[in-house]
Amino acid sequence: MNEIEARIVQLNKLLKTYGHAYYVLDQPMVADGVYDQLMQELIALEADNPSLIFPDSPTQRVGGEVLSRFTKVTHDTPMLSLSNAFNEQDLREFDRKVREQVGTVSYVCELKIDGLAISLKYKDGLFVQGATRGDGTTGELITENLRTIHAIPLRLKDELTLEVRGEAYMPKVSFERLNAQRKANEEELFANPRNAAAGSLRQLDPKIAAKRHLSTFIYAIGGDGESYGIASHSAMLSYLGEQGLPLNPEYRKCQTIEEVIAFVTQWTASRNDLAYEIDGIVIKVDRYDQQEELGYTAKSPRWAIAYKFPAEEVTTTLLAIDLTVGRTGVVTPTAILAPVQVAGTTVQRASLHNEDLIKEKDIRIGDRVIIRKAGDIIPQVVDVIVAERPADSVPYEMPKNCPVCESELVRIEDEVALRCVNPKCFAQIAESIKHFVSRNAMNIDSLGERAVEQLLTAGLIHDVADLYELNKEDVMALERFGEKSADKLLAAVEASKTNSLERLLVGLGIRHIGEKAAQILAANFETMDSLMQATEEQLVTIFEIGDKMAESLVAYFANEGAREVIEHLRAVGVNMVYTGRPLAKESEQDGIFANKTIVLTGKLTQLTRSEAKAKIEELGGTVTGSVSKKTDIVVAGEDAGSKLTKAEQLGIEVWTEQKLLEQL
Ligand code: IVH
Repeated sequence: MNEIEARIVQLNKLLKTYGHAYYVLDQPMVADGVYDQLMQELIALEADNPSLIFPDSPTQRVGGEVLSRFTKVTHDTPMLSLSNAFNEQDLREFDRKVREQVGTVSYVCELKIDGLAISLKYKDGLFVQGATRGDGTTGELITENLRTIHAIPLRLKDELTLEVRGEAYMPKVSFERLNAQRKANEEELFANPRNAAAGSLRQLDPKIAAKRHLSTFIYAIGGDGESYGIASHSAMLSYLGEQGLPLNPEYRKCQTIEEVIAFVTQWTASRNDLAYEIDGIVIKVDRYDQQEELGYTAKSPRWAIAYKFPAEEVTTTLLAIDLTVGRTGVVTPTAILAPVQVAGTTVQRASLHNEDLIKEKDIRIGDRVIIRKAGDIIPQVVDVIVAERPADSVPYEMPKNCPVCESELVRIEDEVALRCVNPKCFAQIAESIKHFVSRNAMNIDSLGERAVEQLLTAGLIHDVADLYELNKEDVMALERFGEKSADKLLAAVEASKTNSLERLLVGLGIRHIGEKAAQILAANFETMDSLMQATEEQLVTIFEIGDKMAESLVAYFANEGAREVIEHLRAVGVNMVYTGRPLAKESEQDGIFANKTIVLTGKLTQLTRSEAKAKIEELGGTVTGSVSKKTDIVVAGEDAGSKLTKAEQLGIEVWTEQKLLEQL
């Protein structure tokens, strides 16, 4: 090893130690300046010696290439959620059921971190893959974004291949700082640290995530813990901690439900002292064999429960009522409040729902009001302290006219909402274009809300199709747009032309047609034309398309304005064909593995695991990672270990790889 190489190795080591002390142990070893200086030195040395950039070098956290879309990934074992307890009684009931089934138990109580669940995979000790929970079965690969989180080690102490699960979150200070910055830039604020964390990890450009100061706590191993020769959750936590993974230090082993309740009570009182938000306490049966005996319901383990903190309430003054007009013309009142701390964050706005609520509670500007905030929910105004009402206060009157276009508001029968029914209302058009470009619709993410408003105000666009007629000069004339950002925007607009049909259907904002319905419609009709020609009778024959949806679709396509927009979109080259996954073939419903749960274990020699999995799924089966009573077949390859033993104990059908191949 030459001198430079030795220094690079040394810097890697030092920065890793200091980083671990700072980000994981929360006990800095050196001043920030020292760390930065060493980092700069390493960056410079690596620039001159690119072959010496190790995959786990601390410089590899700054955020790599920009992605065009996130890749979906199926979790090896589903990422489940927990059932909830809301009071002491629920906890005692949980404890009773557990003891009834397994006898004496110990529990591990952990803080329930209010972030988003993630899965991290390490191969031979190196961090290779990170994913979101998604719907529990399928998540999105966000490896590059997670790599920017300093608390996540890029290399474990040992050369292990494993999956761990945990919570990515945004510390309260980072959240407050981010929102202050966004406010200064007139950008939309994040409602809470959890949304901010989720929004950051959903960025296609990892450099953005890198700037968001996220952190992580790991709370479990993915898959079967016992296959690591470890017998309990608490022992697994120690093991994961020794490997350098960030654990929340506040967990406690409890022998009785009284101790659990004491832990819950203590944290209910002191949760706001933490540097991050928690929304409850998770209680887990410690021993893995007891966990297995308790098993799972369809959605959650029976060996754990999440105690949810009650919503917090505070009082503050209602300064004003802000009215916004949505995409469908609904006018929504929002309370503007004197800033107040609730559940650890500052709240300045709260939902008032609709006119009925304001009337029913006689909410008036200037009132002292009670605000409630529960976990992820937007704060609500729940009541008024009438005794503290100023003498000169007057009842609040909703306006008669649209706050944006001034046309008369109407109240549609059977609806509580007031609506602006002017289809040319600026707010409605702006909101419908924002919806069209949004992530789950056409996904034109470089077009922000302000830019949409500016384009409309400048008369450069009138409807969504006009977006495709923009040129570079148009865009560069907007505030905050330079040549580079204009190019980027136009490229994103262009790229959206090839989206599959369901995205366009979502983007059009047809009432009652959300993402799921759009997907079903697109897969069934395949082209916009055949969908447009469908009658209500034809539509309702499709499973999951109800009367309301069918009626709304037919009415939408009968509307001349809507048809004009669609024809305009077609003329500018927007794809109107479904290019997603074809509908499930009959084989999936009637295949030989239909409704069967299969576990693959040991080394397969003729197929890779993912090939085997794909084939089984094609034939209707589900592949899971751990053996339980619900498993139908275990396919055991070479050197199969504990899973095979378990299958034999449970009397589950065991196949060789050869048998699997024959059946396929
Ligand atoms: S255990 C099989 N432990 O809460 C159960 N979850 O519904 C795996 N969460 O989405 C979850 N802190 O993201 C567990 N210490 C903790 C947690 C925790 C936060 C989240 C998790 C999950 C939800 C449970």
